[in-house]
Amino acid sequence: MSKRRDRELEACSLAHYEDPAYYTANYADRIDDAAFYVTLARASGGPVLEYGVGNGRIALPIARHGIVVVGVDHSAPMVADLRARLAREPAEVRARVRVVRGDMRRVRLRRRFPLVVATFNTVLHLYTRDDVERFLARVRGHLAPRGRFVVDLSVPVLEYLSRGPSRPYHAPRFRHPTASVVVKNTERFDYDPVRQIMFVSMEFEPMGDPAGKWVTPFAHRQFFPQEWEALLHYNGFEVERVDGDYSGGPLKADSDVMVWHARARRP
Ligand SMILES: C[S@@+](CC[C@H](N)C(=O)[O-])C[C@H]1O[C@@H](n2cnc3c(N)ncnc32)[C@H](O)[C@@H]1O
Repeated sequence: MSKRRDRELEACSLAHYEDPAYYTANYADRIDDAAFYVTLARASGGPVLEYGVGNGRIALPIARHGIVVVGVDHSAPMVADLRARLAREPAEVRARVRVVRGDMRRVRLRRRFPLVVATFNTVLHLYTRDDVERFLARVRGHLAPRGRFVVDLSVPVLEYLSRGPSRPYHAPRFRHPTASVVVKNTERFDYDPVRQIMFVSMEFEPMGDPAGKWVTPFAHRQFFPQEWEALLHYNGFEVERVDGDYSGGPLKADSDVMVWHARARRP
């Protein structure tokens, strides 16, 4: 892949996370996954390694339930926001969270964990096979013997993949928490079927101020279920279970999420 394409993808894995206040407001109603990961973390006894920890939407509830979490993320604004949020937590919660700014394909922590998680589509920022393999090697390197790797990712939806970039999709207007103005919110989708990457342009236009419009680029790799299973298999994992929601329901034709539970395969 050319350097230009590399840089474009790097930007698409960072831009959406430049504004933690918007991120927090946008995903405020996602609570099922946090409850699921808290239950999993408590059952493991910890410590937990969370890849793509962001500003702690999952890690903070885990720490509040008494479990130690190490969170890795490459976004400086998200990591700074997590540190600011931690500063407002009681000392014992603060002491349970370690934040490491770095790339999940590279970071080496020199310790092993009974539970390693990559939550809420973090792995969809692994755009190539090389990215995935480097990441899974790091996961294996951080798993304790019989430790578990749990990851949730969206199931590609054929109807969404066929949306062309010329058609705008309008979301309801809202007051942007950082810009403090009401904005029109439009998304355009452009799926690259060769690289299996969905490029999204998120457009925000302040009401009555078209010149103030800004666009956030975003990209998610699309992994089909059998493909993700094969990637786990050929990178040394055995799948224990795959669910189609956060309460243990089966993966079905209309599931929008897949939740994979895997262990490193014994040699
Ligand atoms: C959808 S957010 C998930 C954040 C948090 N876990 C949550 O559920 O709200 C994905 C996170 O992955 C991080 N990320 C993306 N690519 C990464 C990489 N190569 N290395 C480390 N973090 C990465 C982003 O910065 C972002 O914070």
